[in-house]
Amino acid sequence: MSTVPLDFLGELRRTHSCGELRAKDAGSRTLLMGWVHRRRDLGGVIFVDLRDRDGVTQLVFHTGLDEEVHAKSELLRSEYVVGVGGKVELRAPETVNPNLATGEVEVVVEKLWILNESRTPPFPMEDNVDVSEDARLKFRYVDLRRPRMQRNIILRSQVSFAVRESLYSQGFLEIETPYMTRSTPEGARDYLVPSRVQPGSFYALPQSPQIFKQLLMVSGFEKYFQIVRCFRDEDLRADRQPEFTQIDLEMSFPQQERIYEVIEPLVQKVCTVAGYNVEIPFPRVTYAQAMRNYGIDKPDRRIAPMHPVEDLFPENALSAHALPLVAIHIPKTGTLSRKERDELKALGVERGLRVFDDVKRLDRDFAEPMKSVRKRTGATEDDLLLLASWAGEPKGHKPDETAYQACGQLRLLAAQKYNDRHKLLDPKRFEFLWVVDFPMFEWNQDEQRWEAAHHPFTSVHDEDLEKLTGDPAHCRAKSYDLVLNGVELGSGSIRIHRRDVQQRVFSALGFTDEEARRRFGFLLDALEYGAPPHGGIALGLDRLVMILAGETSIRDVIPFPKTARATDLMCDAPAPVPERQLRELGISLRKPQ
Ligand code: AMO
Repeated sequence: MSTVPLDFLGELRRTHSCGELRAKDAGSRTLLMGWVHRRRDLGGVIFVDLRDRDGVTQLVFHTGLDEEVHAKSELLRSEYVVGVGGKVELRAPETVNPNLATGEVEVVVEKLWILNESRTPPFPMEDNVDVSEDARLKFRYVDLRRPRMQRNIILRSQVSFAVRESLYSQGFLEIETPYMTRSTPEGARDYLVPSRVQPGSFYALPQSPQIFKQLLMVSGFEKYFQIVRCFRDEDLRADRQPEFTQIDLEMSFPQQERIYEVIEPLVQKVCTVAGYNVEIPFPRVTYAQAMRNYGIDKPDRRIAPMHPVEDLFPENALSAHALPLVAIHIPKTGTLSRKERDELKALGVERGLRVFDDVKRLDRDFAEPMKSVRKRTGATEDDLLLLASWAGEPKGHKPDETAYQACGQLRLLAAQKYNDRHKLLDPKRFEFLWVVDFPMFEWNQDEQRWEAAHHPFTSVHDEDLEKLTGDPAHCRAKSYDLVLNGVELGSGSIRIHRRDVQQRVFSALGFTDEEARRRFGFLLDALEYGAPPHGGIALGLDRLVMILAGETSIRDVIPFPKTARATDLMCDAPAPVPERQLRELGISLRKPQ
């Protein structure tokens, strides 16, 4: 039972949204609907800020009102849902609110319909209040009313629309692929769906539409795209959710360049929607260059690259082994105190590095080499300059790469540490980058076998084809990642379209013919029926919107996300199901191992 008398919507229709009225509308009549954002009672005159998706309009309930309307206006509380009819009037000059689009006018209310009441919300409908994420997720429908979340979700919709516009205009067709399917090899665990009609058998929810989009190329559709949900049971982080959305596309007869030509204007358009201008084409680096200059395959180019400098010093002068000596250069950091330098050094030491931070001493002992280091890095007196190398024995399967990685981490940590002071990592600066020519295989130390670095349907460079059997370590893939400010936004590749090559990659990955047949027989068969050369990419929509919205977690751009434990706190999923439902599926439960 409601605590206030409620009105019916009946035939009421809005004439304007709450963000629409302007000075030119003064004198006209309006009918608005929305939520009571704020209510102020100034001794008889009541002011209400009425909010809808579009904005806020000030309502005034004067004392001289019809008695029934006045009585009702006294009942209004935060988040009540109302309709009002009245006259638009100019505000007195001293009460104009320049921060509000509708701030020049107010609506003098003549009629009021209370369409629904609301319990006191668990937290205020404002951005700058300290609310725990658990509370936000439990009352997500309320949280989503806050201006920041409204902005983010609306931006997400606008981005999706811009993606569709761009791809439709480039001749792509939007085609759906199944959600109930077989396991796809993207490297995470599958979410499984039990079959009732075939007890003991399971569908897997797709980790991506990879194989289906390739089959659509075999079917002759030539340009496919989909804004599609993917499901991966993996450890969650700020940029990972168990269900997330990809902008997934595939085309026939492309070179790598052709894929960039499709994606760059798309991304440029999407950035424009979010109010940013970005220049295309985006720069490109090879994986090998990225590792040397950034120590990571998703470089944040807002910070200066590192430079290998071992060639500038006498042999073994600073590092005991013939290993990389890396100059890390963080511009405009200024002189650090002894304590700050020690802290930074400790971060490097924790990662197995020997850090040479005493630049004065280096300048004294190695005057000429240090001059060349400055020339190579462009470091000036105002910048932070460190040299780093392995402290002990070379580590890892590829020791040089492991050393660059540790230096790359130190570079990022240094930039993050001094970010507050120097705004190095400006979230409004967008540094897109293509990272290309990844290795085809990665060595899995635990399982002592090669794995596909991207996925097993990726082509190798034509000239590396022969290395598939003898020298997998040096096979370069025709694969590419789109990186933005240190975040992997998307990944793609030119695919294998020949059955014999696909079979050889499966063998290099250690699949027996029988296993390959069992898991991917339908794909191998399809490659025998006139599969065209094809390739594609998938961008993470959540990550893209996250960065455009200036957020640091994809949870803030997904309407109903899961927690780090993959739980939906609002509807309490996952949840046990009744025994009857399990019996029907032929499932009995036992403790997971
Ligand atoms: P990949 O596995 O690299 O490639 O995924 C493509 C992009 O999807 C996003 N992404 C995620 N976003 C949020 N949460 C997750 N758990 C998550 N996992 C991935 C990332 C990533 O760059 N089939 C290939 C694409 C292709 O080759 O065309 C694929 O899925 O932004």
